[in-house]
Amino acid sequence: MSQDFFSPEVLRDPHAFLRRVRAEHPICWSPQFHGWVLTRYADVLAATKDERLVAVSAASWLQRLPGELKQQFEPASRCLRWWAGLMSEQDHLDFQSALKKYFNPAKVEELRPRVQQFTHELLDAAQERGSLEVVDELARPLPANVIGELLGMPPEDRALLQRWSADILSFFQQVELEGLKRGQRSLLEMQEYLRPLIAERRREPRGDLISVLVSQKEGLFAREPEAIVANCAMLLFAGHETTSHLISSGLLLLLQHPEQLALLRDKPELMPSAIEEMLRYDGASDAMVRVSKAPLELGGQRFSAGETFVLVYKAANFDPEVYPSPERFDITRRPNRHLAFGMGSYYCLGAALARLEGQICIRMILERLPGLRPAFQTPDWRPLPPLGRRLRSLHVAF
Ligand code: HEM
Repeated sequence: MSQDFFSPEVLRDPHAFLRRVRAEHPICWSPQFHGWVLTRYADVLAATKDERLVAVSAASWLQRLPGELKQQFEPASRCLRWWAGLMSEQDHLDFQSALKKYFNPAKVEELRPRVQQFTHELLDAAQERGSLEVVDELARPLPANVIGELLGMPPEDRALLQRWSADILSFFQQVELEGLKRGQRSLLEMQEYLRPLIAERRREPRGDLISVLVSQKEGLFAREPEAIVANCAMLLFAGHETTSHLISSGLLLLLQHPEQLALLRDKPELMPSAIEEMLRYDGASDAMVRVSKAPLELGGQRFSAGETFVLVYKAANFDPEVYPSPERFDITRRPNRHLAFGMGSYYCLGAALARLEGQICIRMILERLPGLRPAFQTPDWRPLPPLGRRLRSLHVAF
């Protein structure tokens, strides 16, 4: 039996829909995705760890567009095919080994004072104004400042990043032509913006991320100059939108669960586990796609090579087999090995950075805004089909 992942019912309450799918057809065939949808934690986890399942390039869906459209989006396709080096396993390994040099725990820890400073500045401005709309005035500018700094973007240009990131997100929604065109425009604009920065780092390397990429002596980044510019754009996007969602939706969860907010104020040492629960409960990545390069068995079923699998992290993170009372938002939940950052060979390289930003930002909000309370009737969600949503705004009083 097939399930309609794009029905309005799903967008209204994805968890109710996923609960039903997981209980009735934990591995179900979806003609909409041309693939097998996995919703049980055990199956999703096994899939992330199975080396026979490989991630697909961000450009692959563009290759399947009908003739004229495919042509129209060829420029985006040329950029996206370098993203994370996913066109070949060796490129992906090169991509990871270059970036792991940068995203190590010590390097991320070095960023702590800057993240604190950025958060303070944004909260100073809110306190001066006497009002705060969390999405536009904190959750979006903070990660933009951080990733902009990693890439060595001058501060006055970092606002550009927020528009690019929103446009690229709509590009991946693949729902309407205008969104696709806007996304492609922003993607190319971002690349053109980055080119002179990259050229400058080639002439004069510093300690930043671009300098690490241009200094590679072999592999993907040494071979393909376009892979450098494309992956800088990829990092701007990967590091911005997701972290911004963590901050805004995480704060909303606390406002919706005042007893958890009070507990966190009382015991700030619970902050790391509170952030993990926010990631489990409403992480930014709903699902990821893999393709089998060899036959395999999963969840007791056999599959041949060349099959597509949709790993629904959002469903796995609410699996009652692993999480007792999954619908309960519980900042003390332990263990909490959620899949919000994926797992296995494609595990998020920016996880430590995202955690650092989330922890610092939420802690400072609670410290500096003791009277924090909602200034909205109902959350202002924007649907992100098929399974997601993002906050358009989040007004708070303090
Ligand atoms: C709360 C914030 C974030 C979330 C929820 C998130 C989520 C994810 C997920 C689920 C994946 C794995 C995709 C898969 O399974 O195929 C991933 C991969 C990745 N993320 Fe994140 N991410 C976040 C923040 C960041 C940040 C801040 C950066 C960098 C600045 C980043 C960079 C990456 C990269 C480079 C990959 C690709 C890893 C690879 O293919 O080897 N992410 N992220």
